[in-house]
Amino acid sequence: MRLILAVPLLITLLLAKSFAGQVEVLHYWTSGGEAAALEVLKEQMAESSHQWLDFEVAGGGGENANQQLQARVLKGDPPTAALIKGLDIQRWARLGFLANLNDLAAEQNWANILPTEVANVMKHKGNFVAVPVNVHRVNWLWANSRILNQLNITPPTNWQEFDAAAQKIASAGYQVIALGDQDWQHATLFETLALSVGGPEFYSDVFADHTFNAKNSKILAQVFDRYYQVLQYANLNAVTEWTDATESVISGEAAFQVMGDWAKGEFTNANKQPNNDYFCLPVPGTQEMFLFNIDSFAMFKLKKTKPEDQIAQTALARNIMGEPFQEAFNLNKGSIPVRTDMSLTRFDYCSKFSMNEFLSSSEKGTLLPSIAHGMATTGTIQGYFLERIGELTRNPVSPEKAAKELVKAIRYGQYIIR
Ligand code: GAL
Repeated sequence: MRLILAVPLLITLLLAKSFAGQVEVLHYWTSGGEAAALEVLKEQMAESSHQWLDFEVAGGGGENANQQLQARVLKGDPPTAALIKGLDIQRWARLGFLANLNDLAAEQNWANILPTEVANVMKHKGNFVAVPVNVHRVNWLWANSRILNQLNITPPTNWQEFDAAAQKIASAGYQVIALGDQDWQHATLFETLALSVGGPEFYSDVFADHTFNAKNSKILAQVFDRYYQVLQYANLNAVTEWTDATESVISGEAAFQVMGDWAKGEFTNANKQPNNDYFCLPVPGTQEMFLFNIDSFAMFKLKKTKPEDQIAQTALARNIMGEPFQEAFNLNKGSIPVRTDMSLTRFDYCSKFSMNEFLSSSEKGTLLPSIAHGMATTGTIQGYFLERIGELTRNPVSPEKAAKELVKAIRYGQYIIR
């Protein structure tokens, strides 16, 4: 009897072993919340006996990650998967490097469980070439609730209320806004203000379609005006990394941070509860608007000589879209699942709020792609945008001049062919 049971088990184990392949995954998720989220995937792969090779690139999703990826692809040795987002996916697919995931998409019914906005980003010429892991909302204002309560401040919903709150916070000796001194962090703040001051139409005109006219230039100057006012409440010399800025809100040194909800991953990682230890508020003036940032893994075409690695690659993609991963990963990461057919019971107030706003903004036409996080335009234009915002942050000029400079940078990015 025992032998009868043992034989099939042995065969299953041997089969699993012989199909066990390796996945090499390029990513830049190094913070506490990010690493905890990614760990879920590593564990799932280990459970199915596939080996995980970590290709971790320090310094976020900027040029560094891109250069390392290019070097490997040009050598004919791409990783199995890479954390590539937005329009960059199109670039790699156009060059013919990405694998076709349509079979898996059909098996898991991606067409019906993914919102159109998400599915479109993952497709090239109608074929799925990348797998989405989450939807991040960028236009969040994180607030330390103890500071706000102590100073009797109700969460600000417009800039007038924000300015009044800022005065009180500064006079009480706290840092008003925590902001790390990096281009992408400045741009994250800037784009949320552009949405707030200019509205959705202006935002997509300028950052997605790059339509410049007198009216838009005038609004852009108003955005810079607000940006420079908000910057007065920040201390650029205080921190560099976004995680340190988040930490200063968690610890109660600073009252606010404008950051995507990967910041919530840090609050969660520090055992902090929304509405108790901190508040997640839409950036003033962006209620019912949603700047989205979708993280995704693009799957590379692999050499045919190792079928077990291809099996492992499919397993990786299958796991990412599976409910267990979508739930566990996003609980840690601060984002919401990409699947619309999942229960959110285990998610907190901020995630439920985010999901509601995601769905309603999609209907209202106020769901917009983040330019700072590579969703709105090409990597080249995004690069010039980030660089110029960084310069204009460190060396402020008049709002009108700043608006002109930014338009020039975006135009320049449009002319460059890469
Ligand atoms: C974003 C990325 C997030 C988060 C953040 C900070 O661009 O989409 O997942 O990691 O950068 O690293």
